[in-house]
Order: sequence, then structure tokens, then C-alpha cells
Amino acid sequence: MEFTELILARYSVRSYQHREIADEILALVLEAFRLAPTAANRQALGLVVTKTAGREEELRRVYNTDWFAAQPPLVVCACVERSKCWVRRDGKNYGDVDVAIAMDHLILAAANEGLGTCWIGAFDPEAAREVFGLPEGVDPVVLTPLGYPADSPRPKLRKDMGQLVHTDRW
Ligand SMILES: Cc1cc2nc3c(=O)[nH]c(=O)nc-3n(C[C@H](O)[C@H](O)[C@H](O)COP(=O)(O)O)c2cc1C
Repeated sequence: MEFTELILARYSVRSYQHREIADEILALVLEAFRLAPTAANRQALGLVVTKTAGREEELRRVYNTDWFAAQPPLVVCACVERSKCWVRRDGKNYGDVDVAIAMDHLILAAANEGLGTCWIGAFDPEAAREVFGLPEGVDPVVLTPLGYPADSPRPKLRKDMGQLVHTDRW
């Protein structure tokens, strides 16, 4: 897809078909995550990709909706190893930024293959630690279902350009 079309095509998908994802399509989507830039190239991040089949009840503990835990074939949990991330001199840790960039790569690559996703921040982090088997020092940052959409895009509700972009000074 042409890039501007792709940006317009991506939306938060909250209804999925049960259809499986071919291995080669999944590989393209994961490769987009791998190629993302990270601060100082630390790459202190990772994914847990899991099938929903047979794990629906566990996944509901993490985020209790059908469109996360039951409908899509896969869910993805993006994680950070914060102690290994680049930290600015004033103490700001860039791990969440790194994960967000890599996840956006994954999400746009998925949209480019006709797959749906939805950023999920409102999950239960303790349940995610258990269900995805995260060791000490690895924190879940964001989740997404991954599958073929069963709904349709909605109009994008966004602020006007003038409210977002300032010239010279805020
Ligand atoms: C960091 C982040 C966290 C989000 N968390 C949730 C969530 O927990 N549940 C949900 O249904 N949508 C979640 N969303 C989706 C947003 O509501 C959605 O992206 C926004 O309303 C714009 O709609 P669009 O994605 O269809 O363009 C999240 C989005 C982002 C970027």
C-alpha cells in the first residue's frame, strides 16, 4: 500500500474473523518490529506472540473482551527491559518510546497485509506477567490482537492541524 493510504487505512479493529494468519505474513509483520529504531540502538524490547485458541480464559484475565481473548487467532504483548534502555542525563528512560515505535512498525505492517490490530494499554499488568510468562525485569507495555478484521473503518476524529502544529514556539 502507498504510505499515505496505509496511514489512513489503519484503525482500531474491535471485531475479528477466526481466519488464521499465514506464517509468511506473520513473519513480515514481526520483521517490521525487529527493524524499528531504538534509542542508542539498545533494542531492549521483545514480543510474546501467542495463539488465542485454548487460552481464551487466561487471556480474558489480561483484557476481558471477545475481540482480544477469543476472536483473533493471535495476540501480541510488547515488552521492555527497562534496565537495559537508554536513559537521558535527567533520568528519563526511553524504553516506552522504543516499544511504541516498534509496535507502530508492527501495526502498520499488519495493516499493509490487510490485518487488524488495536493498541491496548488498559490491560491488567499483573495478569499479563503471569499469562505471558514474563521474567523479572521484563515489563508489558502494550498489547494488540492480530487477525483479519470483521468490522469496517470509522472516520478519523482528529484535532485540526493548527491545534497540533506550532510554528517557532508553542
Ligand atoms: C497507547 C494506546 C493505548 C490504547 N489503549 C486502548 C485500550 O486499552 N482499549 C481500546 O479499546 N483502545 C485503546 N487504544 C485505541 C485508541 O482508543 C484509538 O487508537 C483512538 O481512539 C483512535 O482511533 P483509531 O485507532 O481507530 O484511529 C489505545 C491507543 C493507544 C495509542
